[in-house]
Amino acid sequence: MKLLDNWKNAFDRLEAEGMAVLQEVETDVTSFLDRLKQHLIENPEPVFAVLRRVQPILFVKNTAVVTRFEDVQEVLSRDDVFQVTYKDKMEVVAGGSNFFLGMQNSADYERDHSHMLTVIRREDIPQQVAPFVAATAESLVAASGGRIDVVGQLSRIVPTRWIAAYFGCPWPSDEDLATWSTAAFQYLFTDIDDDPAVAAAARDASAKTRAWLDTSIRNRKAQPSQSGTPQPDDVLGRCLALQNAGVPGMDDSTIRTNLLGLFVGAIPTTSKCCTQALDELLKRPADLAKAQDAAASNNDTLLADYVFEALRFNPNNPVVVRLSVQDYTLAKGTMRETLIPKGASVVAATQSAMFDDRFVDSPNEIRAGRPPYLYMHFGYGLHTCFGQYINRVQIPGILKPLLKRKNLRRAVGDAGQLTYSGPFPSTMTVQFD
Ligand code: HEM
Repeated sequence: MKLLDNWKNAFDRLEAEGMAVLQEVETDVTSFLDRLKQHLIENPEPVFAVLRRVQPILFVKNTAVVTRFEDVQEVLSRDDVFQVTYKDKMEVVAGGSNFFLGMQNSADYERDHSHMLTVIRREDIPQQVAPFVAATAESLVAASGGRIDVVGQLSRIVPTRWIAAYFGCPWPSDEDLATWSTAAFQYLFTDIDDDPAVAAAARDASAKTRAWLDTSIRNRKAQPSQSGTPQPDDVLGRCLALQNAGVPGMDDSTIRTNLLGLFVGAIPTTSKCCTQALDELLKRPADLAKAQDAAASNNDTLLADYVFEALRFNPNNPVVVRLSVQDYTLAKGTMRETLIPKGASVVAATQSAMFDDRFVDSPNEIRAGRPPYLYMHFGYGLHTCFGQYINRVQIPGILKPLLKRKNLRRAVGDAGQLTYSGPFPSTMTVQFD
């Protein structure tokens, strides 16, 4: 009997300790997998590089990961087959209505998109955007005294001030607008796990954004009758001029939705691109020196080349995602042709396309002068970024005053490293002489 008791005790102990050991192993494996997943999300190109060779269209768990240049463009140009899925969240953020990024190719899409092209004009870029960005960025860098947090003191502030001034909507504070747009953007585009905390923050932020835009529209409409002055020629003034002319689809609430959608897309993206491009240049002293020479000699085209090359190594979004609404054979007639069934998610790996050496020579090098069609930082096809031409000026324009400074370097210690809050850079401090 005693022997049996001893055995039982021994088994109980083994069971308890064994479970503990197993739990330890499980925790280790889970945390390893979490870290691996996080690493893949942050730095997917090494995996894309393997896929481009071995399995260019990978289909697992009803999701197609598309990695070659021409296949990514095929997906993004077939907007009738591979559709955007932003509508539901867009309606939450915009207070019940959809914004054109959440729409399929339709009459409403064309109406809203073309109205915004009418009020946000290419000729504004040299006349308004470039000088505003140059002056604002220079004043922030000059005031920093040689040590600046690129995110908090520069890259979040310039697009915030620019968009509020360009729209003609007096802003509550830099911090408010940057925080609101970032919360809404995170919910709309990066919250793949549908985190309730992210949704709650976005609801709050977007309610405040809508209130800000409503007040701006109301005040502006009250202005001419009070003072008799004409509408200022800014985005809001141009929207109201279309409204006054009786253009359909330019009522106050549609104007608000359009401005809100543009606002949300403009601030966190610009800040992220500036910080990540600079981080990549700081990792490559020889390329940093070339970018600094371009800045010093005011060669803005060359400077933009270096900035967008650097950004390929850590772009704003390495992929865009679509939903397949019909069966479709992708890359038909090639060895890699793959049937994408209706209902599948399609991950168009735009970063991978920008590293596809069938199209991009020596993709792992930073090279100025590549043709613009090789870049997909701003997407491709119907939903190509509305701000793409602004971005080409604003992102290098924000970095230019910093790059002009001598002995630009990371601050020592942790402060000099790029750190994140969720999907967005939160700090990276640099110093200069
Ligand atoms: C600065 C960095 C920016 C990056 C990296 C960026 C990136 C992108 C990408 C990848 C898309 C395509 C999304 C998709 O296909 O699912 C997109 C669309 C869009 N972006 Fe940007 N964006 C930036 C700045 C801006 C700015 C400054 C604005 C506004 C002035 C803006 C407004 C939009 C809009 C409205 C769309 C939807 C276009 C459409 O549906 O036709 N973005 N952006």
